[in-house]
Amino acid sequence: MAFRVLGICGSLREKSYNMAALKAAGEFMPADLSLTITQFADIPLYNQDVQDKGFPAPVMRLNKEVLEADAILIASPEYNYSVSGVLKNALDWLSRIQPAQPFKNKPVAIISATGGPLGGARNQYELRKILGCFEAHVLARPEIFIGMEQTKFDAELKLTDEPTRKILGDQMKAFADHITKVKKGFA
Ligand SMILES: Cc1cc2nc3c(=O)[nH]c(=O)nc-3n(C[C@H](O)[C@H](O)[C@H](O)COP(=O)(O)O)c2cc1C
Repeated sequence: MAFRVLGICGSLREKSYNMAALKAAGEFMPADLSLTITQFADIPLYNQDVQDKGFPAPVMRLNKEVLEADAILIASPEYNYSVSGVLKNALDWLSRIQPAQPFKNKPVAIISATGGPLGGARNQYELRKILGCFEAHVLARPEIFIGMEQTKFDAELKLTDEPTRKILGDQMKAFADHITKVKKGFA
């Protein structure tokens, strides 16, 4: 049976390069992985007063999607050397769900694409820190930092850069192995 991977994009932009990278990763997935990309633009800003009255439906929907997925693939831009606000906000909501937030023991892989040359490295290490707090199992390598994104995708947002295509394929193979190992250890 194929592992179900939930794709989460940290940019809400219609022409997001990170969404394009997520879709490209889906194309390079081996046969034992299948990708579904979620949308979460309707999640409100975190507010404990709202939480105390009951988690909003869009948060519970995302929680269910993360719980039901075998693994999570996050593609996110870097905002001001850190995680994008929309992604951090969604993660903050999920982290408050009791008795357990949905990322516990979940295999996760990360991609980032940015306009600058560093490809979002600082954002990825911030994200790894958060996912460590969640006790998720983040794939160590290959790491994918797509810098100068405008030179790696064409006008239709198709990933055209050959080395990036290759390493994305390598990461998806490593991700499939990682998911298998994590699932054996925590079944
Ligand atoms: C608020 C904001 C902050 C940003 N900060 C960074 C940054 O710290 N490092 C970086 O490489 N790019 C930064 N960028 C540029 C993003 O990398 C670029 O806009 C990227 O294309 C966004 O991803 P998307 O195409 O998926 O929307 C920033 C962009 C925004 C809107």
